[in-house]
Amino acid sequence: MARIFITGGTGYLGRVLVRQASLGGHHVAASYHTQAPPSDEAIWLSLDVRDALAVEDLLDRLRPEVVIHTAYRQGGPDLLPVTAMGAGNVARAAAAVGARLIHLSSDVIFDGEREGAYTEDDPPSPVSAYGAAKARAEALVTAAHPGAIVVRTSLIYGFAPIDRISQFVLDVATGRSPERLFTDEIRCPIYVEDLAAALLELCGLSYSGPLHVAGAEALSRYAFGAMIARAWNVDPSGIQGALSAESPVRRPRNCALDSSRARRLLRTRLRGVSEVLRDLGRLR
Ligand SMILES: NC(=O)c1ccc[n+]([C@@H]2O[C@H](COP(=O)([O-])OP(=O)(O)OC[C@H]3O[C@@H](n4cnc5c(N)ncnc54)[C@H](OP(=O)(O)O)[C@@H]3O)[C@@H](O)[C@H]2O)c1
Repeated sequence: MARIFITGGTGYLGRVLVRQASLGGHHVAASYHTQAPPSDEAIWLSLDVRDALAVEDLLDRLRPEVVIHTAYRQGGPDLLPVTAMGAGNVARAAAAVGARLIHLSSDVIFDGEREGAYTEDDPPSPVSAYGAAKARAEALVTAAHPGAIVVRTSLIYGFAPIDRISQFVLDVATGRSPERLFTDEIRCPIYVEDLAAALLELCGLSYSGPLHVAGAEALSRYAFGAMIARAWNVDPSGIQGALSAESPVRRPRNCALDSSRARRLLRTRLRGVSEVLRDLGRLR
């Protein structure tokens, strides 16, 4: 059993990680920033990852064996300070206390122009501000902590509670949102429970470097949305398709991740959406 520190414990992935790690018998500490801590399954600590000294001081006191860094902001003025510099602060502090580090990254560090799926050997080529911040984070993390595992993942979804992307899909399908879903943006959505289990399994492995940990099924946002709507018993016929290629803002299109290396390393299965929905009795 390990002493694990999870940043962003109040986030969507963070909450599941805290629960699974605690149920698995690990000693869990987790950080929150603006939200109240949700449970007593962990030691909860207030932390702003922008504050390098605070991060250093906290890890010096906690002395975790493993740090899982999920905290980030997807946009706004805090994008670079939190998502990139904050990740660098966490990596430096983890290295200083000899803790292993698992850093959460994203498929959008790629430009989405590749034929087929991206492997760990493909260089980052972000086209969005968020993608650039996550790519910068990867570089800062790897420089400060060369032994870190940089886990690149894709759309994270789940049911208890519903995730942001699925809620957006339901809003679109029921006409509460006028948005449309792209038929040419490909992702490998991952069930939050599978991702958390894979991250906890990685805590005990000696791997370092980038690792793609995404679901087995590559789907367009539109196809994924229709499956998610049906899984929630919502008629998907209200979902309108659109082409990302025609969007005025350049967006990464095919960000399919090749997770075969992770599949070889891990016992945890990285199920595709159809398999998850079938297993949960939600494939309709
Ligand atoms: N969601 C996806 O579909 C997706 C896809 C690919 C990759 N990822 C990656 O997976 C990770 C987790 O994503 P998520 O969707 O679970 O995140 P989330 O729900 O948006 O949660 C973000 C977390 O970051 C914390 N945070 C924000 N600013 C902070 C600061 N200045 N200092 C410390 N903590 C701060 C938040 O704390 P408070 O809420 O307490 O303020 C929250 O716990 C991220 O690294 C993301 O890049 C996510």
